[in-house]
Amino acid sequence: MSYFRSNIEKMAGYTPGKQPKDGKYIKLNTNENPYPPSKKVLDAIQKAVNVDLRLYPDPLAVEAKEKVASVLGVKPEQVILGNGSDDILTIIIRSFVGYNDKVVVPYPTYSLYETLIEFQEGELCHVNFNEDFSLSDSIIIKGAKVTFLSNPNSPSGTLIPPETVSELAGKVDGVLVIDEAYVDFADSNCLELVDRHDNIIVLRTLSKSYSLAGLRLGFGIAQEQLINGMIKVKDSYNVDRLCIAGVIAALDDQESMKENVMKIRSTRTSLTSSLTKLGFFVHPSQSNFLFARSPKGINTKNLFDELTRRKILVRYFDKPGTDNCLRITIGTDEEINILMDNISTIVNNKP
Ligand SMILES: Cc1ncc(COP(=O)(O)O)c(C=O)c1O
Repeated sequence: MSYFRSNIEKMAGYTPGKQPKDGKYIKLNTNENPYPPSKKVLDAIQKAVNVDLRLYPDPLAVEAKEKVASVLGVKPEQVILGNGSDDILTIIIRSFVGYNDKVVVPYPTYSLYETLIEFQEGELCHVNFNEDFSLSDSIIIKGAKVTFLSNPNSPSGTLIPPETVSELAGKVDGVLVIDEAYVDFADSNCLELVDRHDNIIVLRTLSKSYSLAGLRLGFGIAQEQLINGMIKVKDSYNVDRLCIAGVIAALDDQESMKENVMKIRSTRTSLTSSLTKLGFFVHPSQSNFLFARSPKGINTKNLFDELTRRKILVRYFDKPGTDNCLRITIGTDEEINILMDNISTIVNNKP
């Protein structure tokens, strides 16, 4: 006998990438930043470790919200903060999706969207990306309550231009969620569309470009009416005191974030060219990872297993359309040199 709702009983749950504890791996599997966070963030968090921890944090984290708003050039009333952007995704699903409501998800993309829809018993409408990861017209589905777009997309790393996203916002029914987790690594973003479309929610995170995946801070930006509704749904204290201190310091130090982003973009260019020379097809990446299709005759699963055996973790998705590709997070130049030495050896021996 099960005590669970039948949909929860049946579902598999989200599978996060491996987080090994022994530190012996070169970790290129979960799109973390290889560089440490700003020293100013660490100092601010240490300072916040004090007796005030007996008190709840500000439920709306107003100070942090104001900082986000000033850095992005939006109004604080247009911002909602969460425990990572995953928390904002949960708030979105709970706010807009009920039983059997249609939710559009391009394929392949961040698989958490699908898991959240299952919790809520919404109807998942998968729409395949075109082969070059542009959007197909069938993404417009009548009556959809929410359409998700990871932009840049994971796992492909590709970007839909803001003008195309704007057209899409005008055509979809319901809310269009533009998940910009990786946008600081890209050439353009969709933030300015928020004022033009009352159905757009842009999501950002400090996990990637600010090297703060462990702190858990994400935010949503939308017109006030959407933000006010979503605030009703969020947990009261979803951003803790240490996080609030860290966020303010992180956003105050734009320089260190931008410096790391530049290094990652430069390594991205060199890794793209090394993989291409070895016969891989690399989708044009606007993020901190690459999606590389193996050369003919190479079994990608074997390549992945062999890299893991050599203590190099990348991501392999054993699903239609992705099973001949590896998603590789951009690490330091040193890590990427080791990765390339190993890939060359394995590919030249044809696993
Ligand atoms: C597309 C996308 N959105 C959101 C997230 C979650 O980010 P956060 O750490 O802010 O919860 C990820 C994490 O890998 C992601 O790939």
